[in-house]
Order: sequence, then structure tokens, then C-alpha cells
Amino acid sequence: MRALVLAPLIFAAMPFAAMPAAGQTAAPPAAPAAPAATPAEAPKGPHALDPLPYSFDALAPVIDAETMRLHWGAHHRAYVDNLNRAVAENPALAKLSLEELLARISTLPKAVRDNGGGHWNHRLFWTLMTAPGTGGQPSPALLAAITRDFGSLPAFRRQFEQAGLRQFGSGWVWLVVKADGTLAITSTPNQDNPLMDTAEVKGRPILGNDVWEHAYYLSYRNRRGEYLQKWWDVVNWNQVSLLFADANGRP
Ligand SMILES: [Fe+2]
Repeated sequence: MRALVLAPLIFAAMPFAAMPAAGQTAAPPAAPAAPAATPAEAPKGPHALDPLPYSFDALAPVIDAETMRLHWGAHHRAYVDNLNRAVAENPALAKLSLEELLARISTLPKAVRDNGGGHWNHRLFWTLMTAPGTGGQPSPALLAAITRDFGSLPAFRRQFEQAGLRQFGSGWVWLVVKADGTLAITSTPNQDNPLMDTAEVKGRPILGNDVWEHAYYLSYRNRRGEYLQKWWDVVNWNQVSLLFADANGRP
């Protein structure tokens, strides 16, 4: 009974041309128009975007939630997708680990360098941060090495900030353990890093800060120095100390 009552109302709402002729049933709605062409979907592997180890707003107010959402969900995701596209074109590269790719990066296409570096750098970067004030302090062994090689922890922080400020354009600033076991501060352009065979200063990164504008511009605008100073509040020294213990003595 209800259908009989509603049927005239439905037809009354239909455009005349869409109304079925007597004795016919209503045609199904037309399929929506095909979407505009989009880039081919990236291969699913071999490289993957891991979840962030905390919520988007966990680092606020040092790093705001929108910056984190874009930085991880758009920028890092694009590096992973584009790296997978690049290695899909060369099956021999798809068998190599990310660090094996970086170690011979001078022989590989620019897309592997840019996106392989971008993936490795950001994957490390997320683990180096934690909620403000919860990252602990350098371990006694790491603090001793910092004091030995930079004079003191405050002196190290100043030198690290200066290296980040001096990096022209986009890039990264690093604390690395060199092959001889000493610590060094270095910076790299674009998405390069000290694991690449092209690096001026080679070593195992145990701390790194992203000085691309996408890392800080929403909150800090062009004030990179302020971002570098405030960033210490979210550094996960517990994790940095673990990386130092792992890298110490590693070739
Ligand atoms: Fe970044």
C-alpha cells in the first residue's frame, strides 16, 4: 500500500525524459562519468609506509597536527610510492634493501636517490621524536661522546642548529657516528643522507632534523632557526641513545 502511495510522488520528481513509458520499468540510473585520468597506482612494494608511532597531534605545540598529517601522509607517502615506481622499472633494484640502494646511489637513477633518500630519512625521523618533554636525556655513553667531540651538550646543540640554518634550501642536518667511532655534525641537500656513497661526510645517522620548509612552515613560516631551537623539546633521546649504542663501532 505504501509503495502505491509513494510511486506517483517518485515519478513526479523525475525529469520528463527519464520517466518510463507505460508498461516499461524504470531504467537504472546512468553510471557516473569516468573520473579524470589519474596517475597509475603505485606498486604496493617492496617498500612500505609504516604507521606513525604516535598520533598526528602528539608533538604539538612544537610540531602541529596538520604539519604532521601532510608530512607523513602526503610527503613521506609520495617518496614511498615513487621509490616503488622507480624500482619496478628495474627488477634488479627491487631485490636490494633500502640501505643497499643508498650505498651505491651514485650509480642509480635520480628518482631512486631522491625517493629512496626521502623514504629512509623520514622513516628514521619519526622515531627520533616523541611528545614534548618525554624523550629523556642522552645516555651516559652518548653524553660522554658528545662532550668529547663537541665540548658539551649545549655546545653540540648550538652547532647542530647552526648547521641546520646554514643548509641552503631544502635538506637535512645530522649527527652521525663515523667509521672511526667519533661523532660529527653534517648536513645534506635535498633527500641525500650520510649513508649515500656520494656523501661528503659519511657515517651512521643517530639524529637528524628535516629542514625542508614542509617540516615547519605552517607554524614557523620562514623562521627555521626558531623551529630548530624548539625541536629539542620533542627529541627522543632514549631512541637516539639506542641508535648510538647500535652504531658505535659499526663500520
Ligand atoms: Fe620532510
